[in-house]
Amino acid sequence: MSVLTTNAKEILRDRYLLKDNDGKIVETPHQLFKRVANFVASIEKDNKTYWANNFYQLLKNLDFLPNSPTLMNAGLPKGQLSACFVLPIHDSLNSIFTTLKNAALIHQSGGGTGFNFSNLRPKDDYIASSGGCSSGPIAFMKIYDAATENVKQGGKRRGANMGILNIDHPDIESFIISKSNEKELQNFNISVGVSDRFMDAVRDNNNWKLINPKTKKVEKELKATKLWQLIVKEAWKTGDPGIVFLDTINKHNPTPYLGKIVSTNPCGELPLLAYESCNLGSVNLSNMITEKKIDWNKLNDIITTAIRFLDNIIDVNYYLLPEIKSITKKNRKIGLGVMGWAEMLIKLEIPYASLKAVDLAEKLMKFIQEKSYETSVQLAKEKGLSPLFINSAYFNKSPLRNATCNSIAPTGTISVIANTTYSIEPLFALAYKRTGILGGKTQIEVNSLFKEKMKKSGLWYKALKQHIFKNGSIKDFKNVSTDIKKIFKTSLEIPFKYHLLHQKAFQKYTDNAVSKTINLPKNTTIKDITEIYWTAWEYGLKGITVYRYGSRNEQILQKCNFD
Ligand code: CDP
Repeated sequence: MSVLTTNAKEILRDRYLLKDNDGKIVETPHQLFKRVANFVASIEKDNKTYWANNFYQLLKNLDFLPNSPTLMNAGLPKGQLSACFVLPIHDSLNSIFTTLKNAALIHQSGGGTGFNFSNLRPKDDYIASSGGCSSGPIAFMKIYDAATENVKQGGKRRGANMGILNIDHPDIESFIISKSNEKELQNFNISVGVSDRFMDAVRDNNNWKLINPKTKKVEKELKATKLWQLIVKEAWKTGDPGIVFLDTINKHNPTPYLGKIVSTNPCGELPLLAYESCNLGSVNLSNMITEKKIDWNKLNDIITTAIRFLDNIIDVNYYLLPEIKSITKKNRKIGLGVMGWAEMLIKLEIPYASLKAVDLAEKLMKFIQEKSYETSVQLAKEKGLSPLFINSAYFNKSPLRNATCNSIAPTGTISVIANTTYSIEPLFALAYKRTGILGGKTQIEVNSLFKEKMKKSGLWYKALKQHIFKNGSIKDFKNVSTDIKKIFKTSLEIPFKYHLLHQKAFQKYTDNAVSKTINLPKNTTIKDITEIYWTAWEYGLKGITVYRYGSRNEQILQKCNFD
């Protein structure tokens, strides 16, 4: 078994290992991996033991980990194993509160929910049944937020939500600034749902109409650039809102005949139809290097087993609602992604901020997509097609079993368990503080590859340690060579151009989406954010999120600032 770090063990003990009624831990990490592997293999007709062992190897070597709800709940009675859901909201109290109840149940089980609030009539609109005035989407989002705050997920983690409002909704201006006060909507990521038509209107400096979704009446007309500037200024100030590019998403919708996609899950990596859910899992790229080279054979084996693992989850899963069960089983969407990309580059001695890295990102993700699709085709032959997914046009005319196969999640917790870097993000810092995962507790993280490298070079001495604990980086540390400095550049030192290029490279071969935060230094300008959001659209990204260091008091990752 791969060695678990102290931080990983602490997280597993706190939230993942099974406990008895008195709160006493009743399993070891080794037993956790066995529990998950056996349960996911239990659906296999032949060779159950073979697959259980294969799945176990994957997990215990930390070569692949599924999303948190699978680790927490597999094998438990009514174990809900998916991380991501989208629920519909229609313009009625019945729909608003039915979906709120369903969201609460999903949060309790460890899942996150995304919603588009654009069907709701605007604030102060007339309500025929009562003769009163509507509260509008933002007021209802606040109710969802309060409910989320009070339904801590299965006692393990707090629920996450994505709230989307379309750019032509009459309340869009208040929505854009709805997180301006740090205390508001803390359990929501918010994104503006933007169309290509809107982006054209911004470019051409045209007017833009805000339309009442119920009456279809034009409520207001203003310059598109006015809304655009409000979005980028607010994102500069607080990190919210992000943007989801709905036309790009629907251009790649694998099941257009089932309707338009209007929302994503909380972190944006999964555009989903109403009631769809999806299981995520990530390959640990840091483990795919042998003797300073990518071990493509090993990677292939891991992908093949991981896709089967994620597909099996659809059949062993417990579904909270019949609607979720129905569409999830019919489309069979899964999302295999990656973590440890920055560490893979470090091991290959390729700087993140280089075109060589961007080219490799494309090559790597192309490989992962091809192998994922090949496996899905094989699974279709062995186990049957997905009932609703008519997809021969998508992959050399051989039908896939899964409407989607890949998705790049943030891996906020599983990468800590695997002791590698988050998703496709660069190193956040060489040493940093992390809050948020373990309630109020803080963990200190020092990148282990960096530490190893410094030890080997005889540089792991007090002055250097003090320096990285204070600054998070070695940019200004004298005794380290420029080459090493280049390889260990941290997030805020990497020009945003490269953040975007990496997101683009991975998105190119990801049928769902890529969750990425463009982490920026404090002195980033509004003009920079404008360029980032605009380029994201031009690059065909499905969504974009930025975060300027220090723009919120409560920040999950922080430099230590220890002297
Ligand atoms: O690392 P882990 O599997 O815990 O999760 P992640 O990759 O950081 O997040 C994947 C997805 O899990 C998010 O996009 C959300 O849909 C969901 N999530 C959630 O519901 N609540 C959280 N506190 C964190 C993630």
